[in-house]
Amino acid sequence: MSDPSSALPLRPVRRVRFDGRLPGDKSLSHRILMLGALNRGRVKARGVLASQDVEATLRLVRALGVDVSVAPDDSGVDALAVHLAGLGPERWQEPRHVVDAGNSGTTLRLALGLVAPYPIAVVFDGDDSLARRPMRRVVDPLRRAGAAVLGRADGEYLPLAIRGGNLRPLSVRLSVASAQVKSALLFAGLGTEGEHVVEEPVVSRDHTERLLRALGAPLEVEPAGGEGARRLVLRGPFVPEGDHEIRVPGDISSAAFFLGLAAAHPDAEVVVREVGLNPTRTGFLDVLRRMGAVVEVSEEGEVWGEPVGSVRVASSRLRGVTVGAEEVPRLIDELPLLAVLATQAEGRTVVEGASELRVKESDRIAEIVRLLRPMGAEIAERPDGFVVEGPTPLRGSPGDAAGDHRLAMSFAVAAALAREGTSLLRGHEAVAVSFPSFFRLWESLEAR
Ligand code: S3P
Repeated sequence: MSDPSSALPLRPVRRVRFDGRLPGDKSLSHRILMLGALNRGRVKARGVLASQDVEATLRLVRALGVDVSVAPDDSGVDALAVHLAGLGPERWQEPRHVVDAGNSGTTLRLALGLVAPYPIAVVFDGDDSLARRPMRRVVDPLRRAGAAVLGRADGEYLPLAIRGGNLRPLSVRLSVASAQVKSALLFAGLGTEGEHVVEEPVVSRDHTERLLRALGAPLEVEPAGGEGARRLVLRGPFVPEGDHEIRVPGDISSAAFFLGLAAAHPDAEVVVREVGLNPTRTGFLDVLRRMGAVVEVSEEGEVWGEPVGSVRVASSRLRGVTVGAEEVPRLIDELPLLAVLATQAEGRTVVEGASELRVKESDRIAEIVRLLRPMGAEIAERPDGFVVEGPTPLRGSPGDAAGDHRLAMSFAVAAALAREGTSLLRGHEAVAVSFPSFFRLWESLEAR
């Protein structure tokens, strides 16, 4: 990658060819490290994502005193082989230093729930983006269960200090569909005596549930009330045991940039292999199909309850599409990319019920509009989403990733689709959060 202080030139791409693996799933990587820290026994994980966000979770695990060794894993892109030798949470130590969660909302939110049942004090901080993101959604239910949490704005913002132990059973109905909050509360339930109930209004990614069940946790998942609503019932305490091995599948959210480019590009074919196909994560593929794209999925196996397979996407004529609140959690991280693709689709694309985008690593609604308008897109901001009128030819333009990895990669897709002109991306180094090799692979798209 080039000098981080300089803007990265991104030229239109004439031909798109890719066939291979992409980096490991970020959500699964965080969860496996945390559950490995909790486990009594050894966990050997391959294909763990080697990125800044996952480093934050590794810092947490080490700060708790868990024996962890990390080596590069040559069998994958941005991949680590991680060995954890957990002795159970009773042997965790109180971190001597503030734990730096960096840019990682998943690290911070899940960690609050993970440590809450135990009588240890942990202090967290993070970067400026994470320090603007709301934490009361996790902090409030943990406080109600008995954890002590201090932080700015009464615990809404970093820095945050938590001291838990002796929690009461949790019974929480989430007002936002958030896998991070849901997972934090399930983790808190693992260390707490009693029956814990977490209800979500719309299904969000369910990796935590699948991993816990694969580890033998007494967790029931039932439909609840409205369409897509779910009730999770966990009987605590439960601490996983034994020796486990896992190979982390590729991240569909990273693959989406390659697959999305292929759909909107006139001369393209992309195949991504060994990628996670958990149905709570594949909303983007469903939306691409609704837009008229050629999407072929072949499921080839399962890892710890997670379906894995390959996805092929080739050049397609796209049409506008509507995405509503009930579908948003299944493609939440792909929505800025969808805005880019919508500029190449015939007709109107509407995304609504997605106000969560405003509290991600950046305000992704405002920022994607700011990136795409100078390129010639007709895009309008809505409080809870955006509207795009297409198709409009894009032209190269300067842009700033606003410190947000997914905006940097979405902009790269727009720059690749431009009819003319080189785009200049400032803040491209943000990709290191989830996909450090992104631009190296991107540069090779034409050559393959
Ligand atoms: C994640 C959940 C999502 C997603 C984030 C990762 C996770 O956030 O945006 O990138 O690993 O649980 P919310 O479910 O909190 O919206």
